[in-house]
Amino acid sequence: MQARLIEWTEIAPGVRHFVFEAPEVLKLDFVPGQFVSFSDRIGGKEITRAYSIASAPSEGNQFELCLNRVDDGAFSPHLFDMAPGESVEMRPPLGLFVLRQPLRDTVMVATGTGIAPFRSMLRAYLNENSPAFTLLFGVRYESHLLYREEFEDLARRFAHFRFWPTLTRPGPGWGGRTGRVQAHLAEAISGRGDVDICLCGLQPMVDDTRHILKDMGFDRKQIRYEKYD
Ligand SMILES: Cc1cc2nc3c(=O)[nH]c(=O)nc-3n(C[C@H](O)[C@H](O)[C@H](O)COP(=O)(O)OP(=O)(O)OC[C@H]3O[C@@H](n4cnc5c(N)ncnc54)[C@H](O)[C@@H]3O)c2cc1C
Ligand SMILES: NC(=O)c1ccc[n+]([C@@H]2O[C@H](COP(=O)([O-])OP(=O)(O)OC[C@H]3O[C@@H](n4cnc5c(N)ncnc54)[C@H](OP(=O)(O)O)[C@@H]3O)[C@@H](O)[C@H]2O)c1
Repeated sequence: MQARLIEWTEIAPGVRHFVFEAPEVLKLDFVPGQFVSFSDRIGGKEITRAYSIASAPSEGNQFELCLNRVDDGAFSPHLFDMAPGESVEMRPPLGLFVLRQPLRDTVMVATGTGIAPFRSMLRAYLNENSPAFTLLFGVRYESHLLYREEFEDLARRFAHFRFWPTLTRPGPGWGGRTGRVQAHLAEAISGRGDVDICLCGLQPMVDDTRHILKDMGFDRKQIRYEKYD
């Protein structure tokens, strides 16, 4: 099926929020946390890359992505060259990085564009009656806190949602958390063995954090992760 670009917005240096539609279907079915795969022929080679859906399922065929431009990358610069109205070949949503049902209190750990599936989950699941969610989000600079206003707004509206951004290269004006996500993990879990943990980002963060969780005694079924590389 085709994905047609409707619009994009730059939300941080080198990071864009894209709105696509799948014109061949009336409704795009997916579970929050799943990804789509885009393919195109670049330099004579067929290249396929996965992208987590950043929006919640809706009644329609639109969906949103959050993409980092990898400067020397084979595919992401090609997507950044797309103009509204242009299309790319897409395979429908799939993936196992979804919350366990029934939902339970969950700590979500993201770095960089690893925030995308958590935005989808929170938009879909966070409400007055939902379990408690903590979003621990690590980036280098304050300007890279993707969707910051949205998450801050959710944290104001829902006492059982905690948004914990942390910067590894903070500027002098930053008064919030600092260091990598691992530095705040134990506090986010606060000794509870009954929470689920979801991790999304590049491999080093996911691997390091999984080791820590294993040492803390978490069971494999309580931990879900998606590695971007
Ligand atoms: C299930 C899944 C979901 C994904 N969802 C997203 C998403 O929502 N947003 C997104 O931007 N990427 C996402 N990715 C990564 C994406 O598929 C591509 O790997 C990325 O766009 C780089 O592709 P490229 O061809 O430009 O770079 P390549 O030529 O493949 O170069 C790969 C290099 O880029 C690094 N890299 C990969 N992804 C990123 C990234 N996001 N930020 C910085 N460096 C990266 C790798 O470590 C590696 O060094 C996802 C990957 C998987 C497997
Ligand atoms: N994000 C962007 O806006 C952007 C745009 C264009 C290009 N790039 C380039 O793309 C590459 C990756 O970009 P990114 O910043 O989105 O992703 P990233 O490398 O995953 O960095 C995001 C955050 O994760 C931290 N991190 C790195 N390794 C970790 C680990 N093992 N455990 C826990 N946290 C870890 C980083 O801290 P450290 O500061 O310690 O690394 C940073 O705070 C970089 O080379 C970057 O320069 C990024």
